[in-house]
Amino acid sequence: MRKPVRKAVFPVGGLGTRFLPATKAMPKEMLPVVDKPLIQYAVEEAQAAGIEQIIFVTGRGKTSIEDHFDFSYELQDTLRKRGKMEAYGVVTDMMTQPGSVAYVRQQEPAGLGHAVWAARHLVGDEPFAILLADDLVMSKQPCIGQLIDVYNQTGGNALAVMDVPREHTERYGVLDVGSDDGRLAEIKGLVEKPKPADAPSTLSVIGRYVLLPEVFDILENQGKGAGGEIQLTDAMAQMLGKAPFHGLRFEGRRFDCGDKVGFLEATLAFALERSDLGRDVQRLIDDYASIGAARKVV
Ligand code: UTP
Repeated sequence: MRKPVRKAVFPVGGLGTRFLPATKAMPKEMLPVVDKPLIQYAVEEAQAAGIEQIIFVTGRGKTSIEDHFDFSYELQDTLRKRGKMEAYGVVTDMMTQPGSVAYVRQQEPAGLGHAVWAARHLVGDEPFAILLADDLVMSKQPCIGQLIDVYNQTGGNALAVMDVPREHTERYGVLDVGSDDGRLAEIKGLVEKPKPADAPSTLSVIGRYVLLPEVFDILENQGKGAGGEIQLTDAMAQMLGKAPFHGLRFEGRRFDCGDKVGFLEATLAFALERSDLGRDVQRLIDDYASIGAARKVV
């Protein structure tokens, strides 16, 4: 019997340099899209896919994430006493079960592979999910749930992938593709941040993974790779051929919220979907589009 995917790792220990100064004292995963921090979208995605245990690998600003997912007696009591029951519901509905959230420190931002390795004792000997909250996915079925389905089918590793413009391959881990049915692509090779001319394809990995625990043994001895960081892609490349390894062209729309324009696009897209905001935001967009430069303040 295959072990089920029960645990998810959320690496939140990056420096977030592209969002300084906002990320000086808090992780970029606490940046809100409309009114919810990125990390909460990712946790809700994992929970909707049946994940039971949440593991945060933190760096600086750990306390803001801990506090966010914790009981806030003072706030909840005040909201209740003032009869603000809608707001009270917002903060109580997101509470996780006691004991279902764990934190571990990465200690130094040595790369994504290093962050995942830091969670090894909490994950143990079972398949697990990884979600990078700065990749926000809008979809009907949770993106990580789509990968868990692939694992349940194949018993192997599964990555969420999408085609990117060739000039952007230097931002991603890129696949060398074997057999491919247009949805599920067998992975023959993986290269971290290749130059456009060297990229084996344009099919690129986004921040959703389901991996077998063998990755920890490889990460244990993993040296530094691209950018002087311990790369998860390099460790995954060493797992190829040992167990099934697939890239899934997931159903949904991904927003790169580690990038300013991607973050703004996510804010617009999520606001447009909201019944309480969509119409006003659409009006705002139309307004800006029609008068454009005339709106400039200076
Ligand atoms: P990024 O490559 O986006 O790096 O990390 P970053 O430091 O977060 O952001 P910039 O590029 O400086 O603006 C991808 C993911 O890996 C996590 C990040 O938190 C993010 O979710 N990460 C990265 C870690 O947890 N630890 C690391 O050492 C590096």
